[in-house]
Amino acid sequence: MTFKTEGDCQSSNKINYTDHWDAAYSKTTTDSLGWYEENSTPTLQLIEACQLPKEAAILNVGSGSSTLIDDLLDLKYSNVIASDLSLQALSQLKNRLKATAENVQYIVDDLTNSTALKHLKNIDLWNDRAVLHFFLTEKERTAYFDLLKHIVKKEGFVIIATFAKEGAKKCCGLDVYRYNTAMLQESLGTDFELLETFDYTFINPNGDPRPYVYALFKRVNI
Ligand SMILES: C[S@@+](CC[C@H](N)C(=O)[O-])C[C@H]1O[C@@H](n2cnc3c(N)ncnc32)[C@H](O)[C@@H]1O
Repeated sequence: MTFKTEGDCQSSNKINYTDHWDAAYSKTTTDSLGWYEENSTPTLQLIEACQLPKEAAILNVGSGSSTLIDDLLDLKYSNVIASDLSLQALSQLKNRLKATAENVQYIVDDLTNSTALKHLKNIDLWNDRAVLHFFLTEKERTAYFDLLKHIVKKEGFVIIATFAKEGAKKCCGLDVYRYNTAMLQESLGTDFELLETFDYTFINPNGDPRPYVYALFKRVNI
């Protein structure tokens, strides 16, 4: 099976998600993945709006082999954490970064059943692009938001970019649960203040439009 684009992937109800994502990353190159973004411009724009110090703890959840990490290092952020369910994805990221690879902390963990990330504290920025929408059950979504609330500090920021309500129904062969800004706000609760939100249509490497909603929140209460 090849995992070139969303459409090429196959789905299964009884899927082993670690195997699924490891296979997706091992069967093709980063720039052929259906979610590959050469420039993480919308995310970088929101990160810039946070005006974080360079030593801020930036946690990229479900990081995959995203080039956002390269960009954060280029911008001289010195406390970047890349986390993913897939060791394969993080290994590819590390190999690509070469000399700067040691400037990133890599954590393999499951956002819906955390054993490692839950020990982090005082995260300044939680960044998620294209991960939350894979959590189909209430239990998984609750675990995701509980983890976020456990480790993001007061005055910290949350950026979530997820498939929009009118967006695609699948990604990498998996069903997705789609969002609007109000749903994200409801999940985060009143301790998180919405600072900015916009719709953004990502054109995937296959040329297909993928509508996303982006939202930036600030934690105003703990
Ligand atoms: C569509 S990719 C997006 C990758 C990256 N954020 C980007 O924008 O290129 C989804 C990522 O979420 C990861 N993922 C899926 N389920 C996860 C889970 N339960 N915990 C942590 N990561 C997960 C996958 O391994 C994959 O790297």
